[in-house]
Amino acid sequence: MKPLPALELVTRLEDADWLDPLAKSVRKAVKKVIPARWARDVLHGVPVGHPVHPLAVQVPIGAWLSAGVLDAVPGGEKAARLLIGVGAASVVPSALAGFTDWSQLHPQQQRVGLVHAAANVTATGLYLASLVQRARGSQGSGKVLAYLGLATVSAGGFLGGHLTYRQAAGVNHSEEIPHRFPSGWQPLAPLVDLPEGGLHKRDVAGIPLLVHREGGTVNVLSDVCSHLSGPLHEGKVKDDGGDPCVVCPWHRSTFSLRTGEVKAGPATARQPVFETRTNGGLVEVCLPGAD
Ligand code: FES
Repeated sequence: MKPLPALELVTRLEDADWLDPLAKSVRKAVKKVIPARWARDVLHGVPVGHPVHPLAVQVPIGAWLSAGVLDAVPGGEKAARLLIGVGAASVVPSALAGFTDWSQLHPQQQRVGLVHAAANVTATGLYLASLVQRARGSQGSGKVLAYLGLATVSAGGFLGGHLTYRQAAGVNHSEEIPHRFPSGWQPLAPLVDLPEGGLHKRDVAGIPLLVHREGGTVNVLSDVCSHLSGPLHEGKVKDDGGDPCVVCPWHRSTFSLRTGEVKAGPATARQPVFETRTNGGLVEVCLPGAD
Protein backbone atom coordinates (compact mmCIF):
# COMPACT_ATOMS: atom_id res chain seq x y z
CA MET A 1 0.00 0.00 0.00
CA LYS A 2 1.24 3.48 -0.88
CA PRO A 3 1.86 5.74 2.14
CA LEU A 4 -0.04 9.05 2.35
CA PRO A 5 1.75 11.99 0.64
CA ALA A 6 1.56 13.79 4.02
CA LEU A 7 3.95 11.20 5.43
CA GLU A 8 6.62 12.26 2.94
CA LEU A 9 6.17 15.90 4.02
CA VAL A 10 6.50 15.03 7.70
CA THR A 11 9.60 12.95 7.01
CA ARG A 12 11.12 15.99 5.29
CA LEU A 13 10.20 18.07 8.33
CA GLU A 14 12.60 15.98 10.39
CA ASP A 15 15.47 17.55 8.41
CA ALA A 16 14.14 21.14 8.53
CA ASP A 17 17.12 22.58 10.40
CA TRP A 18 15.85 26.13 9.77
CA LEU A 19 13.56 25.40 12.73
CA ASP A 20 16.53 24.92 15.08
CA PRO A 21 16.98 28.57 16.20
CA LEU A 22 13.29 28.66 17.16
CA ALA A 23 13.66 25.32 18.95
CA LYS A 24 16.58 26.76 20.94
CA SER A 25 14.50 29.74 22.08
CA VAL A 26 11.56 27.51 23.05
CA ARG A 27 13.88 25.19 25.01
CA LYS A 28 15.16 28.17 26.97
CA ALA A 29 11.61 29.33 27.63
CA VAL A 30 10.59 25.86 28.88
CA LYS A 31 13.50 25.87 31.35
CA LYS A 32 12.47 29.32 32.59
CA VAL A 33 8.80 28.45 32.96
CA ILE A 34 9.48 25.14 34.75
CA PRO A 35 12.80 25.59 36.57
CA ALA A 36 12.33 23.00 39.32
CA ARG A 37 13.56 19.54 38.41
CA TRP A 38 10.95 17.78 40.56
CA ALA A 39 8.19 19.63 38.66
CA ARG A 40 9.71 18.62 35.32
CA ASP A 41 9.90 15.01 36.53
CA VAL A 42 6.20 15.05 37.46
CA LEU A 43 5.35 16.50 34.03
CA HIS A 44 7.56 13.91 32.29
CA GLY A 45 5.63 11.18 34.13
CA VAL A 46 8.43 9.72 36.29
CA PRO A 47 5.99 8.85 39.14
CA VAL A 48 3.59 7.04 36.78
CA GLY A 49 6.29 5.22 34.81
CA HIS A 50 5.45 6.57 31.37
CA PRO A 51 4.89 9.99 29.78
CA VAL A 52 1.93 12.01 31.12
CA HIS A 53 1.37 13.99 27.91
CA PRO A 54 -0.50 11.25 25.96
CA LEU A 55 -2.84 10.84 28.95
CA ALA A 56 -3.38 14.57 29.41
CA VAL A 57 -4.33 15.18 25.76
CA GLN A 58 -7.27 12.81 26.10
CA VAL A 59 -9.22 15.60 27.81
CA PRO A 60 -9.05 18.37 25.17
CA ILE A 61 -9.27 15.98 22.23
CA GLY A 62 -12.17 14.06 23.76
CA ALA A 63 -14.02 17.25 24.72
CA TRP A 64 -13.52 18.87 21.32
CA LEU A 65 -14.47 15.77 19.36
CA SER A 66 -17.65 15.42 21.45
CA ALA A 67 -18.41 19.10 20.87
CA GLY A 68 -18.12 18.46 17.14
CA VAL A 69 -20.76 15.73 17.39
CA LEU A 70 -23.07 17.92 19.49
CA ASP A 71 -22.71 20.83 17.07
CA ALA A 72 -24.11 18.57 14.37
CA VAL A 73 -27.18 17.75 16.45
CA PRO A 74 -30.05 20.27 16.76
CA GLY A 75 -30.15 21.70 20.28
CA GLY A 76 -26.63 20.52 21.14
CA GLU A 77 -25.03 23.97 20.96
CA LYS A 78 -25.13 24.73 24.68
CA ALA A 79 -23.43 21.45 25.66
CA ALA A 80 -20.94 21.91 22.80
CA ARG A 81 -20.00 25.33 24.18
CA LEU A 82 -19.34 23.82 27.60
CA LEU A 83 -17.18 21.06 26.14
CA ILE A 84 -15.18 23.51 24.05
CA GLY A 85 -14.48 25.50 27.23
CA VAL A 86 -13.42 22.36 29.12
CA GLY A 87 -11.11 21.40 26.24
CA ALA A 88 -9.53 24.86 26.08
CA ALA A 89 -8.91 24.92 29.86
CA SER A 90 -7.34 21.45 29.85
CA VAL A 91 -4.84 22.45 27.16
CA VAL A 92 -2.60 24.08 29.77
CA PRO A 93 -1.48 20.92 31.68
CA SER A 94 -1.27 18.95 28.40
CA ALA A 95 0.94 21.60 26.84
CA LEU A 96 3.17 21.89 29.92
CA ALA A 97 3.75 18.12 29.91
CA GLY A 98 4.29 18.10 26.14
CA PHE A 99 6.80 20.96 26.11
CA THR A 100 8.68 19.43 29.05
CA ASP A 101 9.09 16.14 27.15
CA TRP A 102 9.85 17.98 23.92
CA SER A 103 12.70 19.98 25.51
CA GLN A 104 14.65 16.72 26.06
CA LEU A 105 14.45 15.27 22.55
CA HIS A 106 16.82 14.94 19.60
CA PRO A 107 16.84 17.83 17.07
CA GLN A 108 14.94 15.81 14.42
CA GLN A 109 12.23 15.04 16.94
CA GLN A 110 12.10 18.64 18.15
CA ARG A 111 11.53 19.93 14.60
CA VAL A 112 8.47 17.71 14.17
CA GLY A 113 7.42 18.47 17.75
CA LEU A 114 7.50 22.22 17.11
CA VAL A 115 5.04 21.92 14.23
CA HIS A 116 2.91 19.53 16.32
CA ALA A 117 2.80 22.18 19.07
CA ALA A 118 2.08 24.98 16.56
CA ALA A 119 -0.89 23.01 15.22
CA ASN A 120 -2.25 22.51 18.72
CA VAL A 121 -1.79 26.17 19.66
CA THR A 122 -3.59 27.17 16.45
CA ALA A 123 -6.41 24.74 17.21
CA THR A 124 -6.78 26.21 20.72
CA GLY A 125 -6.95 29.70 19.20
CA LEU A 126 -9.66 28.58 16.80
CA TYR A 127 -11.70 27.08 19.63
CA LEU A 128 -11.34 30.25 21.72
CA ALA A 129 -12.47 32.29 18.70
CA SER A 130 -15.39 29.89 18.36
CA LEU A 131 -16.43 30.59 21.96
CA VAL A 132 -16.24 34.34 21.32
CA GLN A 133 -18.43 34.06 18.24
CA ARG A 134 -20.97 31.92 20.08
CA ALA A 135 -21.08 34.45 22.95
CA ARG A 136 -21.83 37.14 20.35
CA GLY A 137 -24.75 35.06 19.14
CA SER A 138 -23.12 33.91 15.91
CA GLN A 139 -23.62 30.14 16.21
CA GLY A 140 -22.84 29.46 12.53
CA SER A 141 -19.37 31.01 12.50
CA GLY A 142 -18.75 29.53 15.96
CA LYS A 143 -19.36 26.06 14.57
CA VAL A 144 -17.19 26.66 11.50
CA LEU A 145 -14.30 27.82 13.72
CA ALA A 146 -14.74 24.79 15.98
CA TYR A 147 -14.65 22.38 13.03
CA LEU A 148 -11.51 24.12 11.74
CA GLY A 149 -10.05 23.65 15.22
CA LEU A 150 -10.92 19.97 15.11
CA ALA A 151 -9.23 19.55 11.72
CA THR A 152 -6.13 21.39 12.99
CA VAL A 153 -5.84 19.40 16.22
CA SER A 154 -6.22 16.21 14.16
CA ALA A 155 -3.29 17.29 11.98
CA GLY A 156 -1.37 17.94 15.21
CA GLY A 157 -2.32 14.44 16.36
CA PHE A 158 -0.94 12.97 13.14
CA LEU A 159 2.38 14.69 13.87
CA GLY A 160 2.26 13.45 17.47
CA GLY A 161 1.80 9.91 16.17
CA HIS A 162 4.79 10.34 13.86
CA LEU A 163 6.85 11.63 16.77
CA THR A 164 6.00 8.66 18.96
CA TYR A 165 5.75 5.73 16.55
CA ARG A 166 8.19 6.69 13.79
CA GLN A 167 10.68 8.72 15.78
CA ALA A 168 10.34 6.77 19.05
CA ALA A 169 9.96 9.80 21.31
CA GLY A 170 8.56 8.91 24.73
CA VAL A 171 8.84 5.16 24.32
CA ASN A 172 10.97 2.82 26.44
CA HIS A 173 14.23 2.28 24.56
CA SER A 174 15.12 -0.67 26.83
CA GLU A 175 11.98 -2.69 26.16
CA GLU A 176 13.68 -5.01 23.68
CA ILE A 177 16.47 -6.10 26.05
CA PRO A 178 14.62 -9.05 27.71
CA HIS A 179 13.63 -10.28 24.23
CA ARG A 180 17.17 -10.13 22.88
CA PHE A 181 19.18 -11.31 25.88
CA PRO A 182 19.51 -15.09 26.23
CA SER A 183 17.90 -16.74 29.25
CA GLY A 184 20.06 -18.28 31.99
CA TRP A 185 23.46 -17.35 33.34
CA GLN A 186 25.96 -15.84 30.91
CA PRO A 187 29.68 -15.16 31.51
CA LEU A 188 30.52 -11.46 31.98
CA ALA A 189 34.19 -11.18 32.98
CA PRO A 190 36.66 -12.35 35.65
CA LEU A 191 36.05 -10.32 38.83
CA VAL A 192 39.70 -9.22 38.90
CA ASP A 193 39.24 -7.62 35.46
CA LEU A 194 36.47 -5.33 36.72
CA PRO A 195 37.93 -2.19 38.27
CA GLU A 196 36.43 -0.89 41.51
CA GLY A 197 34.01 2.05 41.09
CA GLY A 198 33.48 3.90 37.85
CA LEU A 199 31.35 2.82 34.90
CA HIS A 200 32.43 0.18 32.44
CA LYS A 201 30.92 -1.30 29.30
CA ARG A 202 30.93 -5.00 28.52
CA ASP A 203 29.11 -6.76 25.70
CA VAL A 204 27.33 -10.03 26.42
CA ALA A 205 25.52 -11.86 23.62
CA GLY A 206 25.70 -8.67 21.55
CA ILE A 207 23.97 -6.59 24.25
CA PRO A 208 25.92 -3.66 25.73
CA LEU A 209 25.92 -3.79 29.53
CA LEU A 210 26.85 -1.15 32.09
CA VAL A 211 29.04 -2.59 34.84
CA HIS A 212 29.80 -0.99 38.20
CA ARG A 213 31.70 -2.80 40.95
CA GLU A 214 31.25 -2.06 44.66
CA GLY A 215 33.77 -4.32 46.45
CA GLY A 216 32.60 -7.87 45.92
CA THR A 217 29.26 -6.75 44.50
CA VAL A 218 28.84 -6.11 40.79
CA ASN A 219 25.92 -4.00 39.57
CA VAL A 220 24.90 -4.56 35.97
CA LEU A 221 22.29 -2.63 33.97
CA SER A 222 21.51 -2.36 30.29
CA ASP A 223 23.90 0.25 28.92
CA VAL A 224 21.21 1.68 26.61
CA CYS A 225 19.33 4.48 28.38
CA SER A 226 15.58 3.87 28.40
CA HIS A 227 14.94 7.52 27.48
CA LEU A 228 16.60 7.83 24.08
CA SER A 229 19.32 5.15 24.00
CA GLY A 230 22.15 7.24 25.44
CA PRO A 231 25.33 5.27 26.32
CA LEU A 232 25.19 5.11 30.12
CA HIS A 233 28.83 4.01 30.52
CA GLU A 234 29.81 7.49 29.27
CA GLY A 235 27.85 9.08 32.11
CA LYS A 236 28.80 9.82 35.71
CA VAL A 237 28.39 8.03 39.03
CA LYS A 238 26.38 9.99 41.58
CA ASP A 239 25.65 9.10 45.20
CA ASP A 240 21.98 9.42 46.11
CA GLY A 241 21.76 8.97 49.88
CA GLY A 242 24.05 5.95 49.86
CA ASP A 243 22.57 4.50 46.66
CA PRO A 244 25.07 4.68 43.78
CA CYS A 245 23.43 6.01 40.62
CA VAL A 246 24.40 6.59 37.01
CA VAL A 247 23.64 9.91 35.33
CA CYS A 248 23.06 9.60 31.58
CA PRO A 249 25.41 11.79 29.53
CA TRP A 250 22.68 12.88 27.12
CA HIS A 251 19.81 14.35 29.17
CA ARG A 252 20.87 13.54 32.75
CA SER A 253 18.32 10.87 33.56
CA THR A 254 19.49 9.22 36.77
CA PHE A 255 19.12 5.51 37.55
CA SER A 256 19.97 3.49 40.65
CA LEU A 257 22.87 1.20 39.78
CA ARG A 258 21.51 -1.41 42.20
CA THR A 259 17.87 -1.52 41.10
CA GLY A 260 17.64 0.35 37.76
CA GLU A 261 14.97 2.59 39.32
CA VAL A 262 14.53 6.07 37.79
CA LYS A 263 15.72 8.63 40.32
CA ALA A 264 15.34 11.59 37.96
CA GLY A 265 13.90 12.03 34.48
CA PRO A 266 13.36 12.68 31.62
CA ALA A 267 13.44 8.84 31.51
CA THR A 268 10.28 7.29 32.91
CA ALA A 269 11.07 3.58 32.43
CA ARG A 270 13.53 1.84 34.73
CA GLN A 271 16.69 0.27 33.31
CA PRO A 272 16.73 -3.52 32.99
CA VAL A 273 18.80 -4.79 35.90
CA PHE A 274 20.79 -8.03 35.73
CA GLU A 275 21.37 -10.49 38.55
CA THR A 276 25.02 -11.31 39.11
CA ARG A 277 27.00 -14.11 40.78
CA THR A 278 30.65 -15.03 40.99
CA ASN A 279 31.48 -18.55 39.98
CA GLY A 280 35.14 -19.56 40.49
CA GLY A 281 36.26 -15.94 40.07
CA LEU A 282 34.13 -15.45 36.94
CA VAL A 283 31.25 -12.98 37.16
CA GLU A 284 28.07 -14.23 35.47
CA VAL A 285 24.90 -12.33 34.67
CA CYS A 286 21.29 -13.37 34.28
CA LEU A 287 18.36 -11.21 33.22
CA PRO A 288 15.15 -12.22 34.99
CA GLY A 289 12.35 -12.44 32.44
CA ALA A 290 14.66 -12.89 29.44
CA ASP A 291 12.94 -14.94 26.72
S1 FES B 1 19.18 9.32 26.47
FE1 FES B 1 18.09 10.94 27.36
S2 FES B 1 18.55 10.76 29.43
FE2 FES B 1 19.55 9.10 28.57
